[in-house]
Amino acid sequence: MAESAVNDGELAAAGLRFDIDGAVATITLSRPERRNAMTLATWRGLATIGQTLPDDVRVVVVRGEGPSFSAGIDLGMFAQGADGPFSDVDDDFIAGLQAGYLWLRRPEIVSIAAVQGHAIGGGFQLALACDLRVITDDASFCMKEPALGIVPDLTGSKPLVDIVGYPRALELCLTSRTVPADEAARLGLAELVVPAADLDGAVGDLVAALLAVRPATAVATKRLLAQAGRNTLTEQAAAERRAQLPLLADLFQKR
Ligand code: CAA
Repeated sequence: MAESAVNDGELAAAGLRFDIDGAVATITLSRPERRNAMTLATWRGLATIGQTLPDDVRVVVVRGEGPSFSAGIDLGMFAQGADGPFSDVDDDFIAGLQAGYLWLRRPEIVSIAAVQGHAIGGGFQLALACDLRVITDDASFCMKEPALGIVPDLTGSKPLVDIVGYPRALELCLTSRTVPADEAARLGLAELVVPAADLDGAVGDLVAALLAVRPATAVATKRLLAQAGRNTLTEQAAAERRAQLPLLADLFQKR
């Protein structure tokens, strides 16, 4: 494992571990005794990892230690009421927390959430912030925020609507109901559902498959697919040509 540029002590205090093994970085939510509940330090730690991620990392795996992926926000912060961290916040405050999630969509990496047990609130949104989700058959998702009087604001509302569509997203948010693994797979919230014992192996196989693609091709493909939803067919065809020409030149240029 390579040394990371982020301070391990600070990350541990934020309930995070960070490891790099060649082109693969692994972020582990590591407060299992609190079901990986997240504090402000957790979200800021995630942002720091994103800011300092080495350029040669191609895949980022986000996982949780213990029985749950994450129980979302540490409810201790809510319990403090007007004496807590949310009594006087502004747009920049929330943007700083969102920065912990947004970088996972960067074209230079593919991010994978490895989800077991509960993914609630901010935990569900962290899984949604990743490009791909591999989940265990005991995993479940719950967008708990509206039940607590708030909206999902850790960048989860867009991927949720993109994946499940507006009516289902509205239903999931406003009922805050728990979505079991089989339904999550049907809704497209998981690319793969595996028995708990197979999670690490399934993620490892996926990582190996992703790394088998040439780096420039992987980046170009992610950029291309990410814009498809907002492009017209004509615009997307043009984007395909722009993406392909340098790849063809690289593959077939006369030496
Ligand atoms: N915050 C703080 N502590 C938490 C926690 C949380 N979100 N979730 C669990 N814990 C603590 C429990 O209090 C318990 O502590 P003790 O051992 O001291 O009693 C310990 O973790 C283990 O929890 P459980 O015994 O409840 O474990 P379980 O496996 O039976 O259940 C669970 C797991 C379903 C996740 C359950 O703990 C639970 O429902 N937790 C609350 C989830 C929640 O409502 N989160 C808020 C989401 S909204 C959000 O995230 C908003 C946002 O801004 C992003």
